[in-house]
Amino acid sequence: MTNRRTLTRRRFIATTGLSAMVSPTALAQNEIRSVVVAGATGRTGKRIVEALNAQGFQVRGLTRDAARAQNRHGNIAEWMSCDVRNPNAVAAALTGMDAVICAIGYTEFAGPNGGQFVDYLGVRHLVDQAVAQHAKHFALVSSGSAGPAREQNRNPLFGYVGYWKTKAENRLKSSGLSFTIVGPAGLVDVPGGTRTIRALNRPEYIKLPMAERVVDIGDVATVAVASLTDPVLSGKSFALLNEDGPPSYDWRADVKALPPEES
Ligand SMILES: NC(=O)c1ccc[n+]([C@@H]2O[C@H](COP(=O)([O-])OP(=O)(O)OC[C@H]3O[C@@H](n4cnc5c(N)ncnc54)[C@H](OP(=O)(O)O)[C@@H]3O)[C@@H](O)[C@H]2O)c1
Repeated sequence: MTNRRTLTRRRFIATTGLSAMVSPTALAQNEIRSVVVAGATGRTGKRIVEALNAQGFQVRGLTRDAARAQNRHGNIAEWMSCDVRNPNAVAAALTGMDAVICAIGYTEFAGPNGGQFVDYLGVRHLVDQAVAQHAKHFALVSSGSAGPAREQNRNPLFGYVGYWKTKAENRLKSSGLSFTIVGPAGLVDVPGGTRTIRALNRPEYIKLPMAERVVDIGDVATVAVASLTDPVLSGKSFALLNEDGPPSYDWRADVKALPPEES
């Protein structure tokens, strides 16, 4: 907690003259116009779609059932049926698009739509196609408890989903793509924008009391969408949560200060 409080007080002064240091990755990210959202019908995916629409991106929403999505959610995206377990469907879904935001999640702890096949294999298909089709950025909504937060092969929770998510993250980290891995705390389905957003390294995050490990879904969407255009977020993996305080807090400075996470 001491470290965290110290971080809370940290404020970074905006640097000037950044244009002279813009990397090729940053330039590529600036050209992003069209975005595939995998899991666009989900609680997080839907708020990601809303945030993308508000910023004028072209949005293709993936779901296992495009007709159902159209009925439930209307024309908020170009709906496309794509079961992420099918690599051919994933290849078609990414065609002609600039970037991917993935917010899919398993629907059962074990079985054909469990973590192994959705959170790992499905994400792997998306990552591999993003590489093949030269996507400019890939943002993955994973989990604050995945990655180096724990020894995942000893964590049987929810069908070892932390283990499967971590394998998917590692595929993305080693893909050569510009990437951002957002590891949400416990999701609260509200628009966000009202509380302080914090980004922490995951081993530090996991030490917090459960009651502090929550995040508004709208804030997860804000950060995932920001990664399309902010080079500071590229190559970063982190836990995302809220804490008491104003929404004006500079969470990007948290992210900037984090070293690259090991696989
Ligand atoms: N719940 C939490 O507190 C929490 C905390 C940290 C991280 N997370 C993670 O955050 C992410 C988003 O969670 P959420 O609660 O927003 O998700 P959600 O509402 O459960 O939505 C899951 C999405 O995954 C899609 N999906 C499932 N199986 C699929 C398949 N085989 N092919 C294609 N799409 C498939 C669903 O689409 P269709 O049904 O339309 O096909 C749906 O859009 C998940 O990875 C979750 O594990 C959750």
